[in-house]
Amino acid sequence: MHWIGRASCVLVCAVSCGFPISSSVMADAPMQKKRPFVIAHRGASGYLPEHTLEAKALAHAQGAEYLEQDVVLTKDDVPVVLHDIHLDTISNVAELFPGRARADGRYYAIDFTLAEIRQLNASERFNHKTGKAVFPNRFPPHQSRFQIPSLEEEIQFIQGLNKSTGRVAGIYPEIKQPTFHAKEGKDICKIVVDVLHRNGYKTKEDPCFIQCFEEEHLRRVREELGCQLRLIQLLDGKACDAAMMSPAAMVETMNRYASFADGIGPYLTAVLPAVAGSPEKHPFPETGHQKSLLVDGAHAAKLEVHPWTCREDELPKHYKSSADLHRDLVQIGIDGAFSDFPDQTRNHFASFAK
Ligand code: G3P
Ligand code: CA
Repeated sequence: MHWIGRASCVLVCAVSCGFPISSSVMADAPMQKKRPFVIAHRGASGYLPEHTLEAKALAHAQGAEYLEQDVVLTKDDVPVVLHDIHLDTISNVAELFPGRARADGRYYAIDFTLAEIRQLNASERFNHKTGKAVFPNRFPPHQSRFQIPSLEEEIQFIQGLNKSTGRVAGIYPEIKQPTFHAKEGKDICKIVVDVLHRNGYKTKEDPCFIQCFEEEHLRRVREELGCQLRLIQLLDGKACDAAMMSPAAMVETMNRYASFADGIGPYLTAVLPAVAGSPEKHPFPETGHQKSLLVDGAHAAKLEVHPWTCREDELPKHYKSSADLHRDLVQIGIDGAFSDFPDQTRNHFASFAK
């Protein structure tokens, strides 16, 4: 199932997490790479409204190895597949339920029952203040008819596709904002883990990763809830920078994650040192480099690296083409990547991983 490019691990250990890497070592790095796997970010969300079953079906057909679910809870404790804790950026909730916003003007999924959420029409993402599409060249907002699925509905849909196509795509649920849910009196971690277990995802061999930004809650999933599934610690730009502050910080941080998790999910540009914008923190050569501090630091602690998010229509600064981006990702040895365009990412990875 996995195409894990770990060719650089030996080198990594030899150079103490990649600080610093001599040009002679880089020159010796093997050029042959395995293709990283593709995680369809909110489904094939570059083509269809995010987190709809239609977007998941397309991603499955495009050959994504994993399909992502962001998960939040409803008022009646049902996990639903939704990126935000709010409903007003991807649905007609304001039109259907006027007066149900909180004091901040936002419509929270946790204030609506599943039966109410089922009445909504899901949409391509738009700005809830202006109504404008976030990605103007993608599927038009408020067009056609889509729904917000529950986590269990989506799992059963994917398992159905796995059966009918004979190709197993894994699931990749993200537990959204456990602290927010706890303040609302809800244990989202336990509820999500129960749904996964009930639907056959129980061990590290099962095609499922659980991801979360909140370290203490992800640790609890492993240590208190006893979940044996593979866990991915998500890292925003700030967390990535903190890990890269020094060799000691890198070792301490990655070993800490490795004590409960199986990998990290870093912000994309943080694994691309040539474009990270802080040369003093990311002392690497220009584009065309073969090493990444974060990838090598994580691999030294035996953690996989799954950066987010490859977007054909929103490339990292300084990248002129998507092909260049994917070439660098293969070269620095990531294990998998989130993409809004699974077909494109898969093709690029296949062409560079030879
Ligand atoms: O889960 C990986 C990536 O999706 C994290 O960012 O905000 O898109 O959920 P976000
Ligand atoms: Ca996510």
